[in-house]
Amino acid sequence: MNIAFFASHGGSNFQAIVEAIRNQNIAAEPVLLISNNSDAYALERAKSLGVKPIHISSAQYDTATEFQSALLGVLDEHSIDLVVLAGYMRMIPKVLIEKYHNRILNIHPALLPKYGGKGMYGMNVHSAVHEAGDSESGATVHLVNEKYDEGKILKQGKVAISKDDTPENIARKVLEVEHRIYAETIKEIVEGSIELD
Ligand code: GRF
Repeated sequence: MNIAFFASHGGSNFQAIVEAIRNQNIAAEPVLLISNNSDAYALERAKSLGVKPIHISSAQYDTATEFQSALLGVLDEHSIDLVVLAGYMRMIPKVLIEKYHNRILNIHPALLPKYGGKGMYGMNVHSAVHEAGDSESGATVHLVNEKYDEGKILKQGKVAISKDDTPENIARKVLEVEHRIYAETIKEIVEGSIELD
């Protein structure tokens, strides 16, 4: 199973998955790391991990159609089977969602359907959880469809929140869960215990 990762910033989820694939001999190949952001640290991580880094941004093209064909072209050229979004801050074009139907995964730093939807990303999520005084949060791996954060949920992991936790602490705890459950999900997809169709 050839995997393309999409990341806009740090790429810690990308790295955790690549390490899990290699350490646990999961039958998947991390082939590409695609970023819309030429300064993304994820591109550096890709170089260190021996995964091909590619910078593709809509800003490099005159039209959305040209951008989308370039993106699809790269995925095709590398025979990509699965697209793994790991902190990718751009909408996924409809043509890509159609071509990779049920083959695009995302991770969200909350227990969906709570704290999903427009504007709910990064620290906005953890601050909202903190303000609500919730006693738990967590992360959700889900399939990507045309609506934000509404695709089928494949796996969730929870963390307990104490009264003393700040939004930053919650973010740290949730990120640990993300690294664990994202790699687990990919392992289960490869092994067939999670079916994507
Ligand atoms: C994670 O919190 C993930 O849930 C969200 O973006 C963040 C990416 O972190 N979608 P990293 O780039 O993998 O470190």
